[in-house]
Amino acid sequence: MSRPLQFAVFGHPIAHSLSPHIHRAFAQQFGIDLAYRTIDAEPLAFADAVKHFFGEGEGRGANVTLPHKAAAFALADERTQAATRAGTANVLTRLPDGRLSAHNTDGAALVRDLTDRHDLDLRGHDALLLGAGGAARAVAWSLFEAGVQTLTIVNRSPDAADALADAIGEPSRVHTRYWEDLSNIGSFDLIVNATSAGTLGQSFTLPFTLAASRAVCYDLGYGKAAISFLAWARTAGARYVYDGLGMLVEQAADAFQLWHGKRPETEPVYQSLRTQSP
Ligand code: ATR
Repeated sequence: MSRPLQFAVFGHPIAHSLSPHIHRAFAQQFGIDLAYRTIDAEPLAFADAVKHFFGEGEGRGANVTLPHKAAAFALADERTQAATRAGTANVLTRLPDGRLSAHNTDGAALVRDLTDRHDLDLRGHDALLLGAGGAARAVAWSLFEAGVQTLTIVNRSPDAADALADAIGEPSRVHTRYWEDLSNIGSFDLIVNATSAGTLGQSFTLPFTLAASRAVCYDLGYGKAAISFLAWARTAGARYVYDGLGMLVEQAADAFQLWHGKRPETEPVYQSLRTQSP
């Protein structure tokens, strides 16, 4: 019997990752025989673990999550535009010649979750992006290209926000403000929390004035990591409040398509995860 195609997700910690379940569910839709496992690698061991997986391990593709997304980008032999813009990669693919290609599917996944699953037309929205780290960089261009009217980037350390806005280079639509000024910058139709505060078990205080009456508030995280921001959004009176579970499933679908050339149905997988993670 031939060995199933080998896939994995790298992270640290990684034991509770939903990615194996998602990829196996997608594979079942097409009768694809694959093995998908979690690989827990400490930061210093990440590069060797990747080399081993794609070498002797005959790995075809891997997802990459915290804290390795920047390292995955750095060690790849070639990088897509989405990965280069973000400076991080959540997908590594072994090319036929053995080289590794880095891609970032997070931005496209966020926009698809907002527009397709939650039926939102982003055009004309005034958007506020909280954070300017790897996750924020991955989604900023996608929000911009999806047609938000303005994108205001606010980060605790202002230099990173300025660098991101400069990189997008559309000063008439993309600007930065100081975190200290959040109570004086009016309200927004879309507020995206791309900070890692929730994942780190930290929280921050935001003024309720930020959420316009029809505001959509979205946390890129899910589960415990999203609780604090989503609770703030509800209290602030946001009309729609979403965690990043849909984005997680969508970014997995993009990786799946890249590796298998087939587009999986995301909705049944999303709905089954949602019932387990309300
Ligand atoms: P990720 O890959 O999750 O984006 P990252 O690149 O380390 O991780 O970026 C973390 C982001 O969360 C940064 O924008 C960081 O702000 P700083 O650049 O000022 O560090 C933001 N962040 C983390 N903890 C935060 C907190 N407690 N309050 C506000 N912002 C926070």
